[in-house]
Amino acid sequence: MTDPQVTGLRSIEYDVLDLAKTSRFYEICWGLEKIAEHEGSHYFRATGSEHHIVVLHESSNVGVNRINFAAPDSDTVDALHAKLSGLGISMKGDPADLNTPGGGYGFGFIDRDGIDYGISSDVTAHSDAEMATDRPFKLSHVVLNSDKVDDQTEFYRDVLGFRVSDRTERMNFIRCSPDHHSIAFAHNQGPSLNHAAFEVPDFDALMCGSGRMKQKGFPVQWGVGRHGPGNNVFGYFFEPNGMVVEYTAEVEQVDEATYKTGTPEEWKQRVQGPDRWGFADPPTDHLRRCMGGDPQPPEVDIF
Ligand SMILES: [Fe+2]
Repeated sequence: MTDPQVTGLRSIEYDVLDLAKTSRFYEICWGLEKIAEHEGSHYFRATGSEHHIVVLHESSNVGVNRINFAAPDSDTVDALHAKLSGLGISMKGDPADLNTPGGGYGFGFIDRDGIDYGISSDVTAHSDAEMATDRPFKLSHVVLNSDKVDDQTEFYRDVLGFRVSDRTERMNFIRCSPDHHSIAFAHNQGPSLNHAAFEVPDFDALMCGSGRMKQKGFPVQWGVGRHGPGNNVFGYFFEPNGMVVEYTAEVEQVDEATYKTGTPEEWKQRVQGPDRWGFADPPTDHLRRCMGGDPQPPEVDIF
C-alpha cells in the first residue's frame, strides 16, 4: 500500500478528576449516552453510528488522554503502523484485535508532541444512528496547542495522509475527510488540549443544546458565532474539569477537486477576527487560560 491514510476522527479520551461527576455532565448536560464501562473507564456515544466518541478515565491529572482515528480497513492499519515504525515514533505495540468496547483492530503511538493516538478499523458501528434536535451526532474536531505547529502539520500530512485546509496566524486546520478540519494546531507554548468540538445537526440544534447547557448551569463562554475557516457555527463551554468543549454545526464540506488552501494573509483580508458575524464577545480570560492548556474548573456545582 503506497499511501495509507486515516479517514476520520473517532473519539477523544480524557483524564478527569471526578469520573462520576464528569459522567453526569456528559449525559445530563452535553447530551451523550453512556454505553459501557471498561476497566474503570466510562464510554459515551453520540446519536451517530460511531461506537463511542468520548472516554473518561479517572486520574489525578486533567487533559487529553488519547485521540482515536479511523482507518478504512485492517490493511491500512498495518500499512500506517509500518510507516510510523520507520520514523522513530514511540509505538505502543503491534496492530492487534482491540479488547476495548466496540472492539476492532488497531494500535497506538505517541507523536512528537507527546500526544497519545490510536488508529483502528473494524470497530462496531451502531445501526440506530439518527439526528436529534439538540444532541451531538459525532466528534467534529480536536484543536491541540503546540509550539511546533508547522512541524506537526507536515507530520500529519506526510505520514497520516491529512490535507491542509487553511492556515491562519493562530492555527493550521487539517482534514482527513470531507469535513474542513478534524484536527487543528494552535500556536501556543508546548503541547496541550485547546478544545474538542461536537457536531450537532444544524444551527437550531446548536441553540437548543446551548440552551440546555445554560439551564443546567453551564452558560456559553464564547459565542454563538460563525468561524472563518470551516465556516462552522460555534458555541464554547466549560466541562466540569475546566476543559473546553464546543457545539458546532454547518461545518464546511471540502471538494478535493476544487478546494484551495487559504493563507494567513488571505484570511486577514477575508474575516475580521474569529467570528464572521461580529456578534460574539471575545473569549473571557478564564476561557483563554483553559484553551491555553491550563484547565481551571468553573464555579458551578449542579450535581
Ligand atoms: Fe473548534
